[in-house]
Amino acid sequence: MVATGLQINKTENSKLSTVDFGDIPFGKTFSDHMYVAEYKDGSWGNMRIEPFGPFTVHPANIAWHYGQAIFEGMKATKHTDGTPMLFRPELHSDRINKSAERLAMPSFPKEAFMEAVYELVKLEKDWIPKQEGSALYLRPYMIAMDEFIGVQVSKTYKFVIFCCPVGPYYNKPLKLKADDSYIRAAVGGTGEAKAAGNYAGSLLPTKLAKEEGYDQIMWLDAKENHYIQEVGTMNIFFVFGNKVVTPSTDGAILKGITRKSLIQILKDKGMSIEERKISINEVMIAAKRGELTEVFGSGTAAVVANVAGIGYKGDMQKFDIDAYKVAPMLKDVINGIRSGRIEDTHNWTTRVV
Ligand code: COI
Repeated sequence: MVATGLQINKTENSKLSTVDFGDIPFGKTFSDHMYVAEYKDGSWGNMRIEPFGPFTVHPANIAWHYGQAIFEGMKATKHTDGTPMLFRPELHSDRINKSAERLAMPSFPKEAFMEAVYELVKLEKDWIPKQEGSALYLRPYMIAMDEFIGVQVSKTYKFVIFCCPVGPYYNKPLKLKADDSYIRAAVGGTGEAKAAGNYAGSLLPTKLAKEEGYDQIMWLDAKENHYIQEVGTMNIFFVFGNKVVTPSTDGAILKGITRKSLIQILKDKGMSIEERKISINEVMIAAKRGELTEVFGSGTAAVVANVAGIGYKGDMQKFDIDAYKVAPMLKDVINGIRSGRIEDTHNWTTRVV
């Protein structure tokens, strides 16, 4: 690992023994330590791992007004031999720096990112749930720290990583509403970045959809209100017989790392996978004809989540999730690679030793 002057200050009050690993709701349990780095005068410094806890933020913090806030979600799991492993950490480093670029934030050096996640997971290894499908979820994020209310690029930032032991994000099949009254992102906007504001804008439409009995929104493109982009917290896949289709990333869709991994697994299995534009009409017509056999989402938190129904303009199409074959196969392979049960032929995992 590189020498960034990383300081490690361990807690004397571990909370580990208070955690019920048999019942871990997503995102509510926090491990003992967090990583923090600070940016000022044009460079990152003061890199440290310290006991998890609150920090003080000035009331005029610029991020709270103008939204320079970006994040990542990544997972550490345990190999069946007990070794902690990170899943494709370098891609998360690349993506947070793409997000940073779009929001005029400084990039965080890849070597420092790799050192941070590696050392944090090494320290928190006993927080990694052992059950396959569960993981230690790492939440790296960067926020502006200037104390100023003029609209401008902040000169100071904080980069933080904390960890939560988690089970699956969704614990039931999802009903999606294809929404034609709100949009998530337009090409040229911030849709491809993992920017906090993208999620803020999704909350009202999702709340309204939930009041109608749906679980999540399936977003349509901003220009024609016709082409499917992604779902709430995930990318989306459709299976038409033996052909798998996922919307091509058009600049407004998040470039999911799980999405990329599933596409590779499908190719490895010799299956037909297309990345292309896919319209809501194509999906609803194929569903009516019985030609759309599976719909599922993919994401770091969600892994692979089955979709049981899609509603659009008053029409509701349901899917027989018990007959799904592709989604369970993909979930099994990705979880299997993360637990070492299935060979990692692409070197996606990094062992933390
Ligand atoms: C993830 O899948 O890791 C995400 O960042 C989605 C999150 C909003 C739960």
